[in-house]
Amino acid sequence: MSKTAKLDLGENQIELPIIEGTEGEKAIDISKLRGTTGFITYDNGLGNTGACLSDITFISGEKGILKHRGYLIEDLCKNSSFLETSFLVVNGELPNADQLNRFKTAIKEGSKIPEGVKNIIKSFPQDAHPMGITSAAMVALSGFYPQFLDQDLSADQKTQIIPLLMGQLKTICAAVYRHGQGKDFIDSDSSLDYTADFLYMMTGEKPNEDIAKALDVLLILHADHEQNCSASTVRVVGSSKANLFASLSAGIDALWGPLHGGANQAVLEMLAAIQNDGGGYEKFIAKAKDKEDPFRLMGFGHRVYKNFDPRAKVIKSYCDEVLEKLNVNDPLLDIAKGLETTALNDEYFAARKLFPNVDFYSGIIYKALGIPTNMFTVMFALGRQPGWMAQWKEMIESPAMRITRPRQVYQGKTSETF
Ligand code: CMC
Repeated sequence: MSKTAKLDLGENQIELPIIEGTEGEKAIDISKLRGTTGFITYDNGLGNTGACLSDITFISGEKGILKHRGYLIEDLCKNSSFLETSFLVVNGELPNADQLNRFKTAIKEGSKIPEGVKNIIKSFPQDAHPMGITSAAMVALSGFYPQFLDQDLSADQKTQIIPLLMGQLKTICAAVYRHGQGKDFIDSDSSLDYTADFLYMMTGEKPNEDIAKALDVLLILHADHEQNCSASTVRVVGSSKANLFASLSAGIDALWGPLHGGANQAVLEMLAAIQNDGGGYEKFIAKAKDKEDPFRLMGFGHRVYKNFDPRAKVIKSYCDEVLEKLNVNDPLLDIAKGLETTALNDEYFAARKLFPNVDFYSGIIYKALGIPTNMFTVMFALGRQPGWMAQWKEMIESPAMRITRPRQVYQGKTSETF
């Protein structure tokens, strides 16, 4: 017999079904709560709310585990490419050789962006933030691919639009970078792999293998992260049956914030500020602990991980390797290491289980690869797109899909107030 939880509301006692996940998570299904009792639940920031049932990604925040479709992130980084991981995240299985080939070909064929989108990118001021331009270019694609605006896409349309958008976003991100540099755009080179082609379109040079490999691993690390702020945004927007272009554009906007993907830019800015201040990071740690000061240690803490972020562990080991291969000696890395050690030994951070997250080290690698700071979050978006599309696809294919429409507890004036 399935388990239930008993809820005693005075005159109302009800039994609520318990749902168990395959990795042991437990949830109380409250979907009938309001209808039967008149009560709703209150969960500020939705930290205790399961907004969907999902087969894509599993995270154990307590143990520091991240898996996509059952595969550990560490194994995916070691043994697969970004495109293989993307296929896995979107379709549920790793591709065989033929599936991978078809996926790659469709992405390559989708890598040429419309002239109109190029013009939209060019129409932005050169110093406009790349995330704003990327989001605008993504939603602008809706005007150029009207065949994908149907409310309910067919299986064929979904098979087409996902690799198409992976190709388009790669080229858009590179064009946004070129625009910021005041340079002409470069067309995709279909002889190159995804990450190498992206770097080629950014720099105009075929990248060395180590650099392309390092970036590929960074993209794998960002491929999905279950119901984070941007993936939830994609789901919320998509739940109104808005098209995928609009849903992804909204996801890009959510990612921009410094508490989410924008943290990678904020970390580098923080490390540079510490360097300019003479390198003493203790003062910044004291600021982060001061409740009167809004400053937070960027790249530290996570809603779900109360242990080391497994992505940060992989990045940290890559960081030393990449800097050595590129022969880069970055003093910001020493500051980052000192900051990390001091924070990890500090009672404030230990008590709150605040560990370095994925953004703490990614910026240092991006910097070593020559990518400017304001492009860091765009790199995150490029990596996260398969996750967003997988979350969207899973949602629209679920028979249980409903428009997302939370409730509230109204605390404002009443007519009796006047
Ligand atoms: N520096 C100083 N104190 C912190 C920090 C930090 N980075 N993060 C959390 N705290 C404190 C917070 O003040 C609170 O203290 P108290 O209990 O005394 O009030 C406690 O830790 C719990 O924090 P919270 O704000 O309730 O945690 P949250 O789950 O709402 O926020 C977070 C998670 C990631 C937004 C937050 O840790 C943060 O702002 N970190 C810095 C930004 C950052 O690195 N973001 C990237 C996240 S990883 C990439 C991604 O997936 O988006």
